[in-house]
Amino acid sequence: MPFPAERPRRLRSAALRHLVAETRVLPASLIQPLFVVPGRDVEQPIASMPGVARLSVDRAVARGRQLADLGVGAVLLFGVPERKDARGTGAWDPHGPVQQAALGLRESAPSLTVMTDCCLCAYTDHGHCGVLDGRAREAVVDNDATLALLAKTAVAQAQAGAQVIAPSDMMDGRVGVIRQALDAQGFADVAIMSYAVKYASAFYGPFREAQDSAPQSGDRKSYQMDPANRREALREVRLDVAEGADIVMIKPALPYLDVVAAVRAAVDVPVAAYQVSGEYAMIKHAAQAGALNERAALCEALLAMRRAGADLLITYAAADAARWLG
Ligand code: PBG
Repeated sequence: MPFPAERPRRLRSAALRHLVAETRVLPASLIQPLFVVPGRDVEQPIASMPGVARLSVDRAVARGRQLADLGVGAVLLFGVPERKDARGTGAWDPHGPVQQAALGLRESAPSLTVMTDCCLCAYTDHGHCGVLDGRAREAVVDNDATLALLAKTAVAQAQAGAQVIAPSDMMDGRVGVIRQALDAQGFADVAIMSYAVKYASAFYGPFREAQDSAPQSGDRKSYQMDPANRREALREVRLDVAEGADIVMIKPALPYLDVVAAVRAAVDVPVAAYQVSGEYAMIKHAAQAGALNERAALCEALLAMRRAGADLLITYAAADAARWLG
């Protein structure tokens, strides 16, 4: 036998490696989150997320057109309302920034898919993802009382033109209730991408600054999943698919690639991975400190999510990634 018997290095040459790549990230599979605020001509940089800003509706629509030109597949809209209250009524206000941006984007950037985050935390004065049980002394989120409000929010988003509703609240049963409400209002074609597997994660820190949505008291551990659990992720996914989820999401992404792979193996629906604010901030700040190459680190992280089984990638760096990959 000649030695070495096999030479895997032969395929790693510059001439061949791109031909034999098993995984690719395409701009069309990227989803760019946008934070939308009231007003005109507003662009407020978010200190903990270099390169990300809160945008007024006009700016968000203009950004959408650029993203469409870059071939980015979709935007995921998050709202920062003017006023908050106990029930989060701003979430379903037809004049709210998310609804207005959805309308504008559908008109001005028709090739871009419009997705909307469906949750109450940015709209409630207490910052929880649902309404509080008034009888409890501490902040207890009332699951079933929240469902109707989420359904109202989903319908308002669909009425504004959202093509995909993305519930991120983690209340039990919300996918089914949202599906029923959409169907009843004539929105059978509007899809649901559920945050099926959303962990109670420290990596959401910068996002809560961006959306001003940190809970005033307590934390989200009574509704978001324990990072210790993988089997439970499959249970959540199974329930959401049974209730009508068209796409299931895992979040955060990079620290949870084992979960992405397990979910991919367990279901037939498309799987999305969300590179959350803390993951994005780690790469940005490390690059700014000269510790790593931003472009290489970002592309590698996104590739790893695809390799683990994610079809869709939600990333704050979607525009840059599309430029670098395209
Ligand atoms: C709100 C929501 C959060 C994120 C998406 N939707 C924050 C949270 O649950 O506290 C996190 C996104 C990110 O960190 O990039 N329900």
